[in-house]
Amino acid sequence: MSLFEFPNHRPRRLRRTPWIREMVTETRLTPANLIWPCFVQEGTDLTTPIPSMPGVERLSIDRLVVAARRATQLGIPAIAVFPATPADKKTAYAEEALNSENLVCRAVRAVKEVVPEIGVICDVALDPYSSHGHDGLLEQGEILNDATVEMLIKQAIVQAAAGCDVIAPSDMMDGRIGAIRRGLDQAGFEHVAIMAYSAKYASAFYGPFRDAVGSAANLAGGDKKTYQMNPANTAEAMREVELDLREGADWLMVKPGMPYLDIVRRIRDRFDVPLAVYQVSGEYAMLSAAAERGWLDRQRVMLESLIAFRRAGADSILTYFALEAAELL
Ligand code: PBG
Repeated sequence: MSLFEFPNHRPRRLRRTPWIREMVTETRLTPANLIWPCFVQEGTDLTTPIPSMPGVERLSIDRLVVAARRATQLGIPAIAVFPATPADKKTAYAEEALNSENLVCRAVRAVKEVVPEIGVICDVALDPYSSHGHDGLLEQGEILNDATVEMLIKQAIVQAAAGCDVIAPSDMMDGRIGAIRRGLDQAGFEHVAIMAYSAKYASAFYGPFRDAVGSAANLAGGDKKTYQMNPANTAEAMREVELDLREGADWLMVKPGMPYLDIVRRIRDRFDVPLAVYQVSGEYAMLSAAAERGWLDRQRVMLESLIAFRRAGADSILTYFALEAAELL
């Protein structure tokens, strides 16, 4: 027999009024849960809309700095900066990734100079810099794991030297967390944290992001399935997480978000470590497009999707809605 039986129990009693609904709310969303992923481009005083992500723009560094200040004023603790590297800087071996004067490094230094209190997170992966659009080095159609990891270590050190607080390896090479941790420590960056994209799936929901950073047109082979995970797998995500924790990850991430809430919950139930989820570009595009057509209420679906991540067990949420959501909260 159930403990709860009608008519002794009438769940609607706790939904009758706003104050009572507020009091029995189980999950909270605040701006402190949000991380704002933003796109930076060359030039000054420039804003370029991204057609597949209405409302999201690539900003020149000076404008990024202003936006970062706005983010702190809204209570958003951190931003994740993604560079739209000019095509003429992209090469087969992605050397620009290691240039301490590259776009992302200049952006990080500028933000840290003017808005030192904001946390800055940088991806580690070669796709913004490779002419073939892959996250790793490509040789005869194969992604080279260990040679890529050697580059990622250097990329992480260059970004840490620019002032980045959290290194977020998004490349999915094996063994990269441990290698980057040792590299950072040896270079004197033992205080720089690692947020591992531990369970990153080979997802079609990244499409608009690849437009935003200009890595879509050139993706050789068309997908990243030899390194990003198969959307059908869960147990494998648990193994990826264990490897990353053992190798020194401070923080875990699941990506994409909404289609992978079960993965967020499973990780939350098993590991007592900070957990982030990435509501990716395609999720943003879906909700925005439907709202543009008047088919969905933009603000309500935005907040509902964000609370779902919290309910599933995520501590922090990377979302292109960050500024808009923080304004409402
Ligand atoms: C690159 C990277 C991607 C995203 C974040 N870092 C794209 C990819 O792996 O192809 C996707 C983010 C988004 O879709 O919003 N390693």
